Amino acid sequence: MTLRWRLALVFALGTAVVIAAAGLLFLQQLTAGLNSSLASTLRVRAEAEVARLASAGPLPPLAPPPPSESRDSGQQGDQHGQNPVSDDITQVLARDGAVLATTDPAVRQPLVDAAQRRAAGHAPVKFTTTVEGEKYRMLAVPAHHGARPVLVVVGTGSHLAEEATARTSTALWIAGPSAVVLAGLGAYALTGSALRPVERMRRRLADISEHDTAARLPVPRTRDEIATLATTMNAVLDRLARALERERGFVADAGHELRTPLTTLKAELELASRPGRSHQALVDAITAAAADTDRLIRLAEDLLVLARADEGHACLRAGPIAPADVLARGVHAASARAETRGVRLTLHADTTVRIVADPDRLRQAVDNLLDNAVRHSPDGAVIDVTLSTRHGPGADVAVIEVRDHGPGFPPAFLPLAFERFRRADAARARAGGGAGLGLAIVRSIAEAHGGSVVADNPEGGGARVRLEIPLAPAHEQGPAHGEMS
Ligand SMILES: Nc1ncnc2c1ncn2[C@@H]1O[C@H](COP(=O)(O)OP(=O)(O)OP(=O)(O)O)[C@@H](O)[C@H]1O
Ligand SMILES: [Mg+2]
Repeated sequence: MTLRWRLALVFALGTAVVIAAAGLLFLQQLTAGLNSSLASTLRVRAEAEVARLASAGPLPPLAPPPPSESRDSGQQGDQHGQNPVSDDITQVLARDGAVLATTDPAVRQPLVDAAQRRAAGHAPVKFTTTVEGEKYRMLAVPAHHGARPVLVVVGTGSHLAEEATARTSTALWIAGPSAVVLAGLGAYALTGSALRPVERMRRRLADISEHDTAARLPVPRTRDEIATLATTMNAVLDRLARALERERGFVADAGHELRTPLTTLKAELELASRPGRSHQALVDAITAAAADTDRLIRLAEDLLVLARADEGHACLRAGPIAPADVLARGVHAASARAETRGVRLTLHADTTVRIVADPDRLRQAVDNLLDNAVRHSPDGAVIDVTLSTRHGPGADVAVIEVRDHGPGFPPAFLPLAFERFRRADAARARAGGGAGLGLAIVRSIAEAHGGSVVADNPEGGGARVRLEIPLAPAHEQGPAHGEMS
């Protein structure tokens, strides 16, 4: 069932319940009010009659009551033949039931039976009776005519009250269902117009394709929930479009980066296949081809790491580790490469620090930082690597810092340093073999571990990159061993 139908139904049902409850309450109040007004009229009439009888003397004749407003005597005659009965009847009865006086010559029989008469001898008695087919409310009270005990019986026709109740209930039966139908139709029409912009948005959304990333939903001018929904959906579309753009850029850049070494490789192989090449030339060509293949493998691996990080699978084997061990191995491996240029690496690491991390991924991040530092260090320079902790209000983190004494990052490049395929000097870096993915990978790995990375040019020159990763919970921290250097 559509939302529209559901709302219409709920509205109709709600209206039905409210009208039924209100109608019942109104009818009940009306009946109670009419009954109490009839009862007080009877009481007043009975009291007047009792007072009249109390004054001793011959039994005064009872005057017939004035004709009622709603029932004239003509109507009475039509309905009940020759002897119309008036709306108000009064009888004076002896205690044995004999009718001593009556206002209505048509009613000569006593209006109370023996049991009611006996009861009325002691206290007033209320009852209803039917006279000539008409319902009457009756009240019988004890009285005295001089010294003689008598009964005063007063009655009044209740047809007016019953008619009023019946008319009201008929009106409710007619008006109630109409109001229910109207409420349902109104709700159906209202929800239809309220949901129209939603339907427009749905159709527009269904039309948007991946090639149409600039398309957005129309935002209604109303400042309501639907306008907010449209704005939020447009913000989501914006984010998706940006992500798609980044993805496409990434694929284009990756293709471009792969083409360069592949082209060189092909040229080298073509050159090697020409006739008359010396043995040495062939060995050189194969060595160069192997170097290009290495570069391709590294690039493919880097792309794989970033793709996995995008899917949220950057660290596969995370566990509590001592980053000092990872740093020691990384520094050892980098030192071997740096030695050829007289570059020296120093390591100051707090061996007690424990983090929850994937050791292979952390090593990859450290290797990328050391690779950059060695590459940018002048011959004979020193690279400082430190591991410490920082306890801040937000988090307690392990801080891995790699600082070299090279030219530092070009200041304008600093905000872009961690983006994919970004190089400060593309031409030179390409010659050196860098694809511009090293720092992007460091950032992915840091973020996958809930950490962060920043780069700057500290006072005194050179470049500095700080990698921060949250410390392992206290119970996983190792015993204090002091510093390794
Ligand atoms: N220690 C550093 N000193 C000065 N510039 C640096 C340093 N580290 C990185 N850069 C600059 O930042 C750029 C991006 O570094 P990144 O490690 O991401 O890429 P890359 O080293 O060029 O290539 P890759 O790491 O993929 O082999 C580098 O090309 C270089 O211009
Ligand atoms: Mg690098």
